[in-house]
Amino acid sequence: MTDIEGLLEDIRDRGLMRRMRMVSGPQGPRVLLDGRPVLLLCSNNYLGLADHPRVRQAAAEAAMRYGAGAGASRLVSGNMRIHRRLEERLADFKRSETALLFGSGYLANVGVVQALARAGDVVFSDSLNHASIVDGCRLAGAETFVYGHCDVEHLAWGLQQAGGRGSLIVTDGVFSMDGDVAPLREIVELAQRHDARVMVDEAHGTGTVGPDGRGAVAAAGLEDEVDLLVGTLGKALGSYGAYVCCDRRMAKYLLNTARTLIYSTAIGPPAVAAAMAALELLREQPRRVEKLQRNGAVLREALAAEGLPVPAGHTPIVPLVIGDAEHAVAVSERVLEQGVFAQAIRPPTVPAGGSRLRLTVMASHTKTELREAAKAVAGAVPPSVRAAIAQRTADTDASVDVRAARSTVTESDTVSDSARARASRVFDGLADAA
Ligand SMILES: Cc1ncc(COP(=O)(O)O)c(C=O)c1O
Repeated sequence: MTDIEGLLEDIRDRGLMRRMRMVSGPQGPRVLLDGRPVLLLCSNNYLGLADHPRVRQAAAEAAMRYGAGAGASRLVSGNMRIHRRLEERLADFKRSETALLFGSGYLANVGVVQALARAGDVVFSDSLNHASIVDGCRLAGAETFVYGHCDVEHLAWGLQQAGGRGSLIVTDGVFSMDGDVAPLREIVELAQRHDARVMVDEAHGTGTVGPDGRGAVAAAGLEDEVDLLVGTLGKALGSYGAYVCCDRRMAKYLLNTARTLIYSTAIGPPAVAAAMAALELLREQPRRVEKLQRNGAVLREALAAEGLPVPAGHTPIVPLVIGDAEHAVAVSERVLEQGVFAQAIRPPTVPAGGSRLRLTVMASHTKTELREAAKAVAGAVPPSVRAAIAQRTADTDASVDVRAARSTVTESDTVSDSARARASRVFDGLADAA
């Protein structure tokens, strides 16, 4: 029998033990955490809509009108008019032919990748894709090629090696732990050249970037070029659940093959109605997105002014990479003592040596709150760790500059030896970073 205590001991020894903290009351820019008021600086409730009065009201009314749950999967008896209405509005927002709801972003990614990457195919996945994409690849019958983070040269090489078996390229639009944006134009160009589909996970892009918050794909002008776009309802839209935007034929295929949709209960009406109200607010008030983006800049600038430069970016996700897991936890605890909640993120959520505070701003934060938060964070980082943060930031910015300097995607005859070497170790399996 598995020695659970031994396994827990091992997790503890590696500084990776996790525990849950308790928030009382609604999710806002300030919350009561384990009984203490704190500024919340690690939530995905980017637009501050989870506790918006109209969103709450919509959920409450839907509960009274339609009940709390859907009672079955959509293919049995759980498909309700309210699901279809939300799908129509999401498709309209994302300028897609149709949309299909899933129970969560995790379920959507697992289900779609598994349905599309079949035995004999190769699925191409960025090394920093979300764990749900990694798990979809693990469950799929296809081989997986993990390309270096945002490394289109590596991806190009892999596609060529696959010799036409490349079925799907999958990437986060905005990367969840680093807040950077995938090189979508180059990815689409490669997909077209190699006849592969493209799937983009917009969990952190919807409501945060792009025209009116329509996401990274819209920002790149690629709404007609991406085959599948996954979005979630639990982040900027303040509710719970997810959706896939695609054409009708693809939606029909997913409805018949995506196991996480077929074998899982439909989202309950209150969550559906809440997401619908949040989407309405986003469309009525696009300035929320501008405020969110300004807040991201305010926090980045305030951290830099405190001697803590973070990688350049325009998303609400601001990574302060500390490195060692125990150091990251210690910094997070000290920041909390100053009244700011910034959870430490450790492996396997981020690669080994990449433990960090993943700071996230909300549209509902004030500038003063963010500047004070930056001071609290700066006061909690010891001098030895500061130097390492500055070095990492310089390295990250330099590698982003190198990527940006590549104007077109190169094919294998110009791919460097190091790209080939990196590729050769991943064709047979997945990297373990989740
Ligand atoms: C990039 C990404 N995709 C998918 C998910 C999963 O979404 P959900 O929380 O709705 O399951 C997350 C969650 O954090 C995420 O960061």
